[in-house]
Amino acid sequence: MKLGERLACAAKLVKPGTFIDIGSDHGYLPVYLIKNGICVTAAASDINKAPLERAKATAERYGVADKMEFFLSDGFESISKTYDTACICGMGGQVITDIIERGKGKFNRLIIQPMTKAELVRQYLWENGYLIENELYPSESGKPYAVISAYHDDVFVKYKYNDMFLGRVRPNTDGYRLYAEKVLTAAKKRYGGTKRFDDASLAEECLKIIETPNRTF
Ligand SMILES: C[S@@+](CC[C@H](N)C(=O)[O-])C[C@H]1O[C@@H](n2cnc3c(N)ncnc32)[C@H](O)[C@@H]1O
Repeated sequence: MKLGERLACAAKLVKPGTFIDIGSDHGYLPVYLIKNGICVTAAASDINKAPLERAKATAERYGVADKMEFFLSDGFESISKTYDTACICGMGGQVITDIIERGKGKFNRLIIQPMTKAELVRQYLWENGYLIENELYPSESGKPYAVISAYHDDVFVKYKYNDMFLGRVRPNTDGYRLYAEKVLTAAKKRYGGTKRFDDASLAEECLKIIETPNRTF
């Protein structure tokens, strides 16, 4: 089984232990983790029946259904255990932060991949005592994504406006430069409407990242 770049990056951030995929849909991630010996068992959950059925079908097709649990659940609502790692991928940033907020106590580590509003997710994590331990920047069909791993540490990280959009570590990679292009487009659009100085300075930093392949800053 081969995952797309986006979910492959999420899989790279998983550590051995108990695992739940919230909003699993096709169930590729938990099935991959079991098939590749990263997790012994895994859980897939989804708010909708049809995606959950798809996850069950994938687990059966790959012969790992007996190693999996399936939950029909809005976020962590119907989940009673605490998992070592919870993955929340492929949803909007606002939905993801709501799921995290309502699911406190049901996970030790998070792996998050927002489709929109990643800045809201980073801001939520820093303001609620989470430490972002890693960010990977895959692309799929030319579209860039951020995959974030974090855990609660009661540390309230100080961050700047640009950090919400670009993360606090700016890796010197092609994937990250593509991500900065996406952030730049959105910053320019916002600046066109609000003329907010913050967005002008964010756009400036994005340009520096994009135009300096061997940067040391
Ligand atoms: C676009 S799919 C992403 C599937 C997979 N996680 C991925 O990244 O490829 C989003 C899934 O999240 C589910 N979903 C949306 N809101 C949810 C919620 N509050 N709780 C659980 N699942 C949710 C949807 O039913 C859908 O199956």
